[in-house]
Amino acid sequence: MEQYVNMTIDGAIVRAKKGMSVLDTAMEYGVCIPHLCHVQTLSDVGACRLCIVEHVRNGRSQITTSCTLNVQEGMKVLSNTEKVRKLRRNIAELLVAEAPNSRAIQDVAVRCGVREVRYPFRNKNCVLCGRCVRVCGETWQAKAIGFIGRGKNRHVDFPFGEKPDFCKSCNTCIDLCPMTITPCAGPMKTGEEYLCSQCEGQLMTTEQVPDACVWCDLGRGFQCARQAQAV
Ligand code: SF4
Ligand code: SF4
Ligand code: FES
Repeated sequence: MEQYVNMTIDGAIVRAKKGMSVLDTAMEYGVCIPHLCHVQTLSDVGACRLCIVEHVRNGRSQITTSCTLNVQEGMKVLSNTEKVRKLRRNIAELLVAEAPNSRAIQDVAVRCGVREVRYPFRNKNCVLCGRCVRVCGETWQAKAIGFIGRGKNRHVDFPFGEKPDFCKSCNTCIDLCPMTITPCAGPMKTGEEYLCSQCEGQLMTTEQVPDACVWCDLGRGFQCARQAQAV
């Protein structure tokens, strides 16, 4: 029999399934916590840190990633405080700087309130979210790709750079990658560190209705509960 715990998210009492993460629970209740590396059917590794929340315990609050935090009885979580919004905005800004041409990342950044990017662009084609590596290993048990190298050289590749026979050519790794959603028409060059007009246009909605979800266009791959409702 399913077991449940009672907890609060942003002051609202929710009944959450034991063993579920705070992020999945929040999404189930329509609380949209921005996230990038999380995929509902895969394990969570807390790579992007976008889903941070305040976990209040014994009168003290701790910032933690909600995808790696499991629900507990009596738990108190705040997903949208000034402190969280500020930190999340900075994380989103850094992600845009890493991959300024990713439509998915620009959209998430807009939701986090980013308007311009104060960091130099690195124009990378991977933000190391690990969605591809996890789907390959966990869903297909193929382990045909993995992280290679350390620090600045860390990237995703096949072993020895060659596609192995055991790659199932399923393309799920590509489908789940935030870099493969139709690229943003955003800035490409250093010195143009602003969001493109497409994403910026959505800011009107967020400005007019504070805390409103702009129903970013990330599709089912990102499993936003509101997206699913909108379909
Ligand atoms: S295409 Fe190959 S590398 Fe990509 S998820 Fe499928 S098995 Fe893994
Ligand atoms: S290739 Fe794409 S899915 Fe894989 S880690 Fe990089 S950004 Fe994430
Ligand atoms: S979604 Fe939780 S750290 Fe990326």
